[in-house]
Amino acid sequence: MEQNLLKKIISFSKRRGFIFPCSEIYGGFSAVYDYGPYGVELANNIKSAWWKTMVQENENIIGLDSAIFMHPKVWQASGHVAGFSDPLVECKKCHTRIRADHFLEEIGIWADEKMSEIEINKLLDENKDKLKCPKCGENNFSKAKKFNLLVKSNLGNFTSDWDKSPVYLRGETCQGIYVNFKNVLDSTRQKIPFGIAQIGKAFRNEITARQFIFRQREFTQMEMQFFVHPEKAKENYERWKKKRWKFYLDNLKFKEKNLKWHQHKNLVFYAKEAWDIEYNFPFGFKEIEGIHNRGNYDLTQHSKFSQKDLSYRDNKTKKEYIPYIIETSAGLDRTLLAVLTEFYTEEKLEKGKTRIVLKLPKNLAPIKVAVFPLLRNRPELIDKARKIFNSLKPEFMCEFDDNDNIGKRYRRQDEIGTPYCITVDFDTLQDNTVTVRDRDTMQQERIKIEELTDKLHKKLNNN
Ligand code: GAP
Repeated sequence: MEQNLLKKIISFSKRRGFIFPCSEIYGGFSAVYDYGPYGVELANNIKSAWWKTMVQENENIIGLDSAIFMHPKVWQASGHVAGFSDPLVECKKCHTRIRADHFLEEIGIWADEKMSEIEINKLLDENKDKLKCPKCGENNFSKAKKFNLLVKSNLGNFTSDWDKSPVYLRGETCQGIYVNFKNVLDSTRQKIPFGIAQIGKAFRNEITARQFIFRQREFTQMEMQFFVHPEKAKENYERWKKKRWKFYLDNLKFKEKNLKWHQHKNLVFYAKEAWDIEYNFPFGFKEIEGIHNRGNYDLTQHSKFSQKDLSYRDNKTKKEYIPYIIETSAGLDRTLLAVLTEFYTEEKLEKGKTRIVLKLPKNLAPIKVAVFPLLRNRPELIDKARKIFNSLKPEFMCEFDDNDNIGKRYRRQDEIGTPYCITVDFDTLQDNTVTVRDRDTMQQERIKIEELTDKLHKKLNNN
């Protein structure tokens, strides 16, 4: 795969209303994006697929929606205030700031954001002749310094020096889960082992904006924290690694060759073991989800800082312990970019024509069914098509289209991945049947209007 594909996906996403640059009329806003009408449907469908496999299908996993703003002590307890940082170098000529590990990676030197300042600076020194500022081309940089990624705000603080005691926008959604661990235990009948799942926004002051929606400053995480007895941590870790891998194959229908495991050697401050699932993006294999054994770090820290006992008492053994946490942490935006990468297809047709098809699994398609009257200047066809559209609308995400000719309408729906297009023609007026055209095979079949809803349900459920 090539970078060229990324360019195609970026322009396609904007042209077809999937992803827009944020505040574009003001020139955009770096590392932040908006989802357009089809993008929001696709994102919701990915969230639903994740929620279904995590919450609906597991009796011992329940959901949560905690706030983005949290007590500032949360981020001291979690270690983020002291240790959540990336290494930054600055060009001494044009003052462009660059993430040091990525900078080294670009010239083929392996580096990791978790390396110490000393380690990174050693690598930068050893390779200084090869490094050039991407903006001005100069070769004169400051020493690498760690830069904290937490985003600060003045929420509830009306003084001018609010940044001395800021309130942070959450840097990861899981902290909302940890601080609600007791609340969930006390208000449900869950017993260890059990999990809490959450989908929500996270914010990070990423140093460089790169690779479209892959690295953003505002993004959505889909996280699940599974609380276990310390002795059961390893087996649960292995179990969740398998389950999460399967999600990409079975639910999102990714090809296995586009997935890869990556084990972290330099662990972040909270992790005992960490593996990433990487996806083959147009710019290479990169992390889409992290699976971490966080030990009892988080609950221990929050117990200490809040002075609340967050240990768990096992009613059978009468023993108390701080549970270990197995975390599965996926990025919605990265998954959406992976979905576009996986299913964006350019097909060669007869007479040198090409069609763009988003060959999405049906459950992910933003629009499930499109309804067309064969001709737009025949009121009887339009009336009939409208009636069918109105009857299908409560069942499926539907679109009505009577612009241009049928061929162009098909192309428009193929591009956004609509699995089925229904055409109302003159035969419909005689025999109450319509043609249903399949996106992938382009085959058409005649179906009775009275059977349409049932048959479409069956077809759409057959992913
Ligand atoms: N709670 C653990 C945690 O946050 P992480 O590896 O920092 O772990 C988990 O992030 C996932 O969140 C990543 O695998 C990625 O999909 C997504 N993610 C992280 N930073 C991101 C960013 N700047 N833009 C988009 N997605 C991001």
